[in-house]
Amino acid sequence: MSESEMAPTNDSHRNRFFSKISLLVARWMIPTDDRGRIRMVVDSLILHLHPSKVPQSTLKWTYTWGLGGLSTLLMLILGVSGLILLNNYTPSAPQAYLDLLELRANVWFGEWVRNLHHWSANLLILVAVLHLVRVFLTGAYRPPRQLNWVIGWLMLLLIAAANFTGYLLPWDQLAYWAVTVGSSLIAYLPLVGEGLARLALGGTEVSTNTLQNFYALHISFIPLLIFALMSYHFWRVRKDGGLSIPKTSAAQEDGRMERVTTIPHLVQRELVFALVWVALLIFIAKLLPAPLEDIANPNLSPNPAKAPWYFMGFQELLLHFHPTLIVGLLPFLLSILVVSLPYWDNRFESVGVYFRSPKGKRLTQLAIGTALVVTPLWVIADEKWFSWVDWLPFLPQWITMGGLPFISILVFFLLADRAIERWFRASLEERVLFHAAFLLTAFVVLTVIGIFFRGHGMALVLPWQG
Ligand code: HEM
Ligand code: HEM
Repeated sequence: MSESEMAPTNDSHRNRFFSKISLLVARWMIPTDDRGRIRMVVDSLILHLHPSKVPQSTLKWTYTWGLGGLSTLLMLILGVSGLILLNNYTPSAPQAYLDLLELRANVWFGEWVRNLHHWSANLLILVAVLHLVRVFLTGAYRPPRQLNWVIGWLMLLLIAAANFTGYLLPWDQLAYWAVTVGSSLIAYLPLVGEGLARLALGGTEVSTNTLQNFYALHISFIPLLIFALMSYHFWRVRKDGGLSIPKTSAAQEDGRMERVTTIPHLVQRELVFALVWVALLIFIAKLLPAPLEDIANPNLSPNPAKAPWYFMGFQELLLHFHPTLIVGLLPFLLSILVVSLPYWDNRFESVGVYFRSPKGKRLTQLAIGTALVVTPLWVIADEKWFSWVDWLPFLPQWITMGGLPFISILVFFLLADRAIERWFRASLEERVLFHAAFLLTAFVVLTVIGIFFRGHGMALVLPWQG
């Protein structure tokens, strides 16, 4: 060993010095009896959330990617920053907008708290969807976790609702017109749509009434419901036997699955992960201001008027299909599929294994690749050449823009299903994986097209052409 390695460095001296000082200060500030008690309180708080021991394999970072934990952290940040924002916000037009100008200009850290709330809310949508994707890819929705899968789905819908109601609160042009477009989607719901839209808006168009309705939902009902469901979600994770793990893992087959204590092994990892994310968010909120355009003007509609980014996939679909199909039938069928999934795709053997099998992984790649090519081609073809409405002008639109395209897409999926079953000898669970990967990728592509490739009058344009 070289001399320099043997000799203690200045840094290690300094570190030891600081840790001794902090220990002394802690000892001096907290009497011995209390230290034990505080430790007990903290430990028992942690052990209310976690079991005392967890399987070593579930600590692996690349299994959960910390996405459930990050959703929790973002919800907590939203709750706290939301409560702070309440201090300087009046839910009436135009005062709401003036309050935000005041917040930006004269309130200490006001803009920073708003940025934190804004970016955390947008990030939460992405992170919750990625958490859903991870749960799906590892088959963790299967029994006994089917109820948690449904609770998670409900929470995702509520997160979208929280984001949508929050979107209006700044009362600028962006908020006003995005919410006008977004709520016009609700009105397309068959039978109840118009009534529901009128109820949400508190009239026929977005107004101060809408602001007050959205505000009430945004700061009480929706977050309280999410926090209540979150507590149940955590409890169920424990009740369902902890995180899903591969049934076939050698250790489990031997009956000697290795477990480690939650404190410190899991808690230490969670703490570091949370601190890194808090630091990142603080940094983002400092660098990137949340958008604030001119004050809302009901007489000056921007062209194009777009919904919030997370609804752009639906807005893009509305350009191609009958609204009842997109706002009524599609969400209905999707919800039935999602909720019933754990009951008919329930093979226990592949739970905890990413992509089910090597073949499942290849099929997922194939589905993503196909969707990346087919979706933009289909959008262009439908815009330029394909038009049931022009070909069959004597038929009502619910057939030419609803029934006929719906049946053609169904036939496409049935043919694709037959093909992968025959050529790849894919099992039911691998076929489900293929279709889900295709649908999700197609929706992401539609969202990107809606956000970046739609210009004046919602015509297809290249992003740099405006
Ligand atoms: C699921 C949780 C939540 C989500 C996803 C969410 C989302 C949002 C969004 C997207 C905005 C618009 C931000 C902007 O661009 O300025 C907003 C604004 C606001 N939120 Fe939340 N929020 C949540 C929870 C809360 C809670 C719990 C409160 C208060 C108790 C709250 C109070 C506010 C207030 C006062 C505003 C208006 C100020 C502003 O626009 O900056 N939020 N929220
Ligand atoms: C506010 C939103 C959510 C929060 C805070 C949350 C939190 C968590 C946490 C902390 C875990 C355990 C650790 C992990 O898997 O990362 C978990 C597991 C789980 N979550 Fe979520 N989650 C949310 C949304 C969702 C969604 C949208 C779904 C699916 C539709 C879902 C379904 C599940 C399932 C099935 C498990 C058990 C996974 C397993 O055993 O491997 N969650 N969630």
